[in-house]
Amino acid sequence: MTNFKVGVIGAGPSGLAMLRAFEAEQKKGNSIPEIKCFEKQDNWGGMWNYTWRTGVGKYGEPLHASMYKYLWSNGPKECLEFADYTFLDHFKKPISSYPPREVLFDYIEGRMTKSKARDFIQFNTVARWVDYLEDKQQFRVVFDDVKNNITFEEYFDYLVVGTGHFSTPNMPYFKGIENFPGAVIHAHDFRGADQFINQDILLIGSSYSAEDIAVQCYKHGAKSSTISYRSNPIGVNWPNGIEERPLVSHFEGNTAYFVDGTFKEYDAVIVCTGYQHKFPFLPDNLRLKTKNCLYPDNLFKGVVFNPNPRLIFLGMQDQYYTFNMFDTQAWFARDYMLGRIQLPSFTDRTADIKVWMDGEAALTSAFDHVDFQTNYIKDLISFTDYPPFDLDKVSDMFKEWLKTKETDILNYRDKVYKSVMTGTLAAEHHTEWMDEMDDSLEKYLEEVPINEVV
Ligand SMILES: Cc1cc2nc3c(=O)[nH]c(=O)nc-3n(C[C@H](O)[C@H](O)[C@H](O)COP(=O)(O)OP(=O)(O)OC[C@H]3O[C@@H](n4cnc5c(N)ncnc54)[C@H](O)[C@@H]3O)c2cc1C
Ligand SMILES: NC(=O)c1ccc[n+]([C@@H]2O[C@H](COP(=O)([O-])OP(=O)(O)OC[C@H]3O[C@@H](n4cnc5c(N)ncnc54)[C@H](OP(=O)(O)O)[C@@H]3O)[C@@H](O)[C@H]2O)c1
Repeated sequence: MTNFKVGVIGAGPSGLAMLRAFEAEQKKGNSIPEIKCFEKQDNWGGMWNYTWRTGVGKYGEPLHASMYKYLWSNGPKECLEFADYTFLDHFKKPISSYPPREVLFDYIEGRMTKSKARDFIQFNTVARWVDYLEDKQQFRVVFDDVKNNITFEEYFDYLVVGTGHFSTPNMPYFKGIENFPGAVIHAHDFRGADQFINQDILLIGSSYSAEDIAVQCYKHGAKSSTISYRSNPIGVNWPNGIEERPLVSHFEGNTAYFVDGTFKEYDAVIVCTGYQHKFPFLPDNLRLKTKNCLYPDNLFKGVVFNPNPRLIFLGMQDQYYTFNMFDTQAWFARDYMLGRIQLPSFTDRTADIKVWMDGEAALTSAFDHVDFQTNYIKDLISFTDYPPFDLDKVSDMFKEWLKTKETDILNYRDKVYKSVMTGTLAAEHHTEWMDEMDDSLEKYLEEVPINEVV
């Protein structure tokens, strides 16, 4: 049955995966429901749509992305590759394993421009509020068209939320920080390392943002970076100029004091303490409430909102896998909406979620986390016709990536991996990452040596 209407909020990689999933079905000659996607920015790509306007949009709407200048993929592209549109399909030649932002944006866009997906998207349009109307079994969604300054509402039988969860900062307080004389920003507002040249930088938090921003600052000429950790240090082999210390206890002027009794003066503080899942447009009973984890509570198969299964969330997990995981979720969501996947009872769904959550709670290492998310994707793929790919090999690549970072944090992006989709070995980039100051698509694609396709 396809005489129903689906609303999708957000045209980032997750929302676009949903459009792509339906389009794949349509291409097979099958009918699909009416679909409408609403995106607050003036272009698609979500986080990857970085412009000088990132932060505040033309119409005054806060925009979103935590992306920054000089951001290069922090995992091998072979781990995020779409199974139905490979890097070789797009670039027609091997490229390196760790492309910069603009190259990944081009890849995301390339897949979508092969379709009519853009016709489904209304840009410059913000979802402001959602109600579920029990009598109609429909969602009423209030939107603001910020370009034309118009508020309107639409009704949907299913609502898909793909608004991401790395854009609302988690900003803890540290005593005395209010009197710190230099810049104090969250990683969300970091827009590039240029402004920190010759400065002593303190980063609080010990995950991917702290790691990458410290390395970016090092690369672009900061005097020193200190990473201050709460639970565990990142623990890689840092170069002189980057160090790790335990948590800040307090600040006095521009001096940070750490819980081990040491202290140091800084020019700027970048708070890299992660993000909150935030859905200001959802009422309490429809809101996903979770910390950043691999299996959020209340999501059957990580996708269907258990208390109201007409509500679907994509991409709400912590992410080793990204683009291809969003695809497998979207394919599952599509087949569920099309009535091909029957949901078990509420009780059975709750039990299934618990099994996965208990599984996550028992994990002890980063390798375990990779295996867990690999198994999750295998599970999703088993329900749909998303093109199967060798997930065990992808999992091995993630583990290799983790090991390489430990020993060579400055140069791990020079390593190349083989695509499990095409068997193509990535090309070595023409310039070593530490020497490559130009992250443009144009420079990236210059003189790329072409490896033999194997
Ligand atoms: C700094 C940073 C670097 C990253 N680097 C990598 C990387 O190297 N490799 C990797 O694989 N992943 C990386 N990620 C992970 C990233 O989360 C995913 O790659 C991907 O962007 C997630 O897609 P998404 O569609 O779920 O969310 P997003 O990309 O955040 O897209 C959500 C979209 O929803 C829109 N939106 C939000 N609220 C509304 C609303 N109310 N109404 C209408 N539209 C709305 C937003 O404007 C946005 O376009 C990075 C994340 C961050 C924060
Ligand atoms: N491509 C790139 O290079 C790149 C760059 C940046 C970010 N990213 C992506 O962005 C996403 C988010 O990464 P993230 O590092 O911002 O968030 P994250 O992975 O959720 O990590 C949050 C960090 O903040 C710490 N923290 C939280 N509250 C704290 C507090 N009150 N005091 C001290 N420390 C606190 C956590 O420490 P505990 O361990 O103690 O909880 C953890 O180290 C990831 O998907 C990542 O891949 C990618």
